[in-house]
Amino acid sequence: MEIIRTKADLRARVSNWRSAGETIALTPTMGAIHEGHLSLVRLGLERANHCVGTIFVNPRQFGPNEDFATYPRDEEGDFAKFEAAGCDAVYAPAPDQIYGTDYKTEVIVHDISDLMEGASRPGFFTGVATVVSKLLIQAMPDIAIFGEKDFQQLAVIRTMARDLDLPIEILGAPTVREPDGLALSSRNAYLDESQRRIAPALHEAMIAAAATVQNGTAPEIAADQARKATLSAGFQEVDYIDIRDQDSFLTATAPGDNLRIFAAARLGTCRLIDNLGI
Ligand code: PAJ
Repeated sequence: MEIIRTKADLRARVSNWRSAGETIALTPTMGAIHEGHLSLVRLGLERANHCVGTIFVNPRQFGPNEDFATYPRDEEGDFAKFEAAGCDAVYAPAPDQIYGTDYKTEVIVHDISDLMEGASRPGFFTGVATVVSKLLIQAMPDIAIFGEKDFQQLAVIRTMARDLDLPIEILGAPTVREPDGLALSSRNAYLDESQRRIAPALHEAMIAAAATVQNGTAPEIAADQARKATLSAGFQEVDYIDIRDQDSFLTATAPGDNLRIFAAARLGTCRLIDNLGI
């Protein structure tokens, strides 16, 4: 597996493959690679001839009081995992390959960036849309794959790629979970043993709420029950548990098709997010 550090080398690698008539999938990550990330690589390799994993802990998507400095970093371990999953190359750029000294440009996806994750983490989606548009433009893959674990992020990226006319297919991949239902996340490493036992309660509360809505209960009541269940399981704070239309992201006012439950809650220093189709 080739380790690429500069955008010039990335472009050269991709254009070599392209001149040979081969297709390229890109799987952007912030590292601390786990099975959720590797599922994106495997999907990429089913859909394209080559897969390039990227690792960049993007400072612009962290708030001033967030965990940029302590975000788990293990480049060597990450390279080995990407290679074992079949990546042909990994792009792990030096920071100046993404943000030059006089960097000025941001990509803002209006409206959808203001809800849920965007409301809890101001500026987060602008940081994500900016770095993902740069990674896509630098690599120019045929497809780029993102997890449904971050469903709102996937929607922001799809909107950005459509609005900027990027000729790249954005593909969503299902959430990979631990056997007890906890969605895999690099940040799960922050959970201590007793928090780790409590953590699946968020997913359990969401499953219960989804079933309640399917049985005809008003979404608002089901979401409220899920909030209470999450707090009584031992979470310190619920940032939001919302039931919304999964395309328009409008709050659901009645049971129906195409709904999804979205949640973010705090357990110790860890902020867990998850979502589930209803
Ligand atoms: P990161 O949290 O490292 O996640 C990278 C990709 O892996 C994202 O598309 C995310 O949705 C996906 N992913 C994470 N956990 C998953 C799981 N349990 N199952 C399936 N897919 C999962 O998301 C980011 O990084 C960043 O915001 C990024 C898009 C790279 C921009 O910096």
